[in-house]
Amino acid sequence: MTTIKIALLGFGTVAQGTFNLLQDNAELIRNRTGVNVEISKIFVRNPNKYSHITLPETAQYVTDIDEVLKDDSIQMVVELMGGTTFAKDCVEGALKAKKNVVTANKDLLAESGPYLLDLASKNGVDLRFEASVLGGIPIIRTLYESLAGNRITELIGIMNGTTNFILTKMSEEGLSYQDVLKEAQDLGYAEADPTADVEGLDAARKLAILASISFNRRIFFEDVSVEGITSIDTEDIKFGKEFGYNIKLLGIAKETSQGLSLNVYPAFIPTTHPLASVRGSYNAIYVKGNGIDDVMLYGRGAGSLPTGSSVVSDIMEVAKNVSYNETGRLKPFYY
Ligand code: NDP
Ligand code: HSE
Repeated sequence: MTTIKIALLGFGTVAQGTFNLLQDNAELIRNRTGVNVEISKIFVRNPNKYSHITLPETAQYVTDIDEVLKDDSIQMVVELMGGTTFAKDCVEGALKAKKNVVTANKDLLAESGPYLLDLASKNGVDLRFEASVLGGIPIIRTLYESLAGNRITELIGIMNGTTNFILTKMSEEGLSYQDVLKEAQDLGYAEADPTADVEGLDAARKLAILASISFNRRIFFEDVSVEGITSIDTEDIKFGKEFGYNIKLLGIAKETSQGLSLNVYPAFIPTTHPLASVRGSYNAIYVKGNGIDDVMLYGRGAGSLPTGSSVVSDIMEVAKNVSYNETGRLKPFYY
């Protein structure tokens, strides 16, 4: 059986979820891919922070990124650090070294996705990013593959787990948003800087990525008009409830006669609407297409194992491509 060596960059919430699934489901992964996926290196700043985690014999911590980028035996780099500076250098370096990349980094993709996808294509390697949007919900592959025969006209969804968790707790337990934010951080839902969640920036980045794929255009974060949930208080929520509405932070991309409209904002949703019953860290998205009419996907939008599940599915897909010498074949739609 072919063995493919991979390196994890970062070992936080998502990386540990990925690590655990790769360990726990190793046999299933081998059976389904015909490949033995071996974690060879884990790049971290301070290995002591992770001394409580037992690594498999094949894996070691490294603190110098060149130990990954210059190691010819590593065929896949899994970037799970976040950020757009050092992470970009690492992803760029890996692609130029003809290593396949899997990432969950929506900030990076919303800013430099087209450039990095071009770079992957030029170097004949894969760049996969299922986990970057809606955590455990398989929306990227659904748009690229299952719904590829549709002209997409609208996307509407709850695209951030942290804010949905906060709004749910505010609505059901009468707590203030500051009280609940700390809990969302402790549960690993929030971004390193949670401003990105509560100000709607994280949802806007995800919308930019999904809209690029759905509408065949290069859409960037700056193209989305954004309003977050920081000005919502328990009174707003109570008021909405009195009239039969729940407040949800929505991301909406829509074809209009004036062009594509891209917005993230908190909205009153009738309690009878399916999106109103999406609670806690769950996310959901409606995709409207001219063949399918409506598709709704629902699932956990954040967290260690749900997001790890998406990362592992990408790792498996890339591993299969490597074993068949087929990497670099999936061209992004917006070419
Ligand atoms: P964490 O903060 O939990 O983990 C980040 C990891 O990366 C830590 O191990 C951190 O090390 C390391 N790291 C960060 N910067 C550097 C650096 N410059 N050099 C070396 N190591 C670094 O983040 P998450 O796991 O939550 O998120 C990772 C990525 O996944 C982000 O892009 C995020 O947007 C995305 N994502 C997260 C989801 C979630 O539910 N949490 C869901 C979907 C996507 P140290 O401890 O030393 O800082
Ligand atoms: N901070 C993000 C959220 C993580 O809460 O949705 C998943 O992308």
